[in-house]
Amino acid sequence: MIKTRFAGINFENPFFNASGPHCTTKEELDILGQSKAAAVMTKSCTLEPREGNPSPRYVDITNNSSINSMGLPNLGYKEYMKLIPELTVHNKPIFSSVSGMKIEDNIQMISELSDVKELDAIELNLSCPNVVGKPQVGYDFQQSVEVIQEVQKICKKPLGLKLPPYFDFVHFETMAKIINQSRVNFVTCINSLGNGLVIDIAKEQVVIKPKGGFGGMGGKLVKPFGLSNVRKFRELLKPEIQVIGCGGIFSGIDAFEYILAGAD
Ligand code: DHB
Repeated sequence: MIKTRFAGINFENPFFNASGPHCTTKEELDILGQSKAAAVMTKSCTLEPREGNPSPRYVDITNNSSINSMGLPNLGYKEYMKLIPELTVHNKPIFSSVSGMKIEDNIQMISELSDVKELDAIELNLSCPNVVGKPQVGYDFQQSVEVIQEVQKICKKPLGLKLPPYFDFVHFETMAKIINQSRVNFVTCINSLGNGLVIDIAKEQVVIKPKGGFGGMGGKLVKPFGLSNVRKFRELLKPEIQVIGCGGIFSGIDAFEYILAGAD
């Protein structure tokens, strides 16, 4: 098995879960801990616990793909602070994803999580597409600069950014420049493709309930964009900034494609 070194830690293999729909509860995190994944990543957390959006909010669609609008259901960061030490029984690195509703929330969560000694790294999510009234931070470059500047002052762990997919070379270059001027240690490419629409023609309805059926697309469908984003950021970022590839990885072939594109 290929090993990798990531965020200053030796990984037994180059695979672990994305922060996504299956890493919210202790039960789910223990399943990941017991799996062959080399690390465990927790669901993006907020200041307060959240129920998330109404169901159905996650649907698997054809071709190993999916649509979701979970709406950030999570236990609240304080609960993850308690849970993280318990996850050390699995003997693998633990990463925590943070997705505050505002800069102050991110500062509070990241400064407190920084003091959890069992935590290995923090991923700041700049790309949740599913909260009504909240734009994806990663598509607002000014807001991205502000949050990165503030968070990097207080983060005492390796710091990563979960990025949305970009589709335009000027946007890649703008974001890469922002990141190259920061102390960010890694980026994760990509989050879901925001605001797709899936329609069930038999029911003449959209398949998920929140936001009129609009949701983040994931799985096989998004792999070419995951690959392009890994490739572009690998070209543009300083060599010491590492890149996690994410999206549509079902087989060794998919993983090899990401590695060829430049994923760590
Ligand atoms: C959710 C979706 C995302 O793509 C993300 O980055 C964070 C949260 C969600 O809907 O829960």
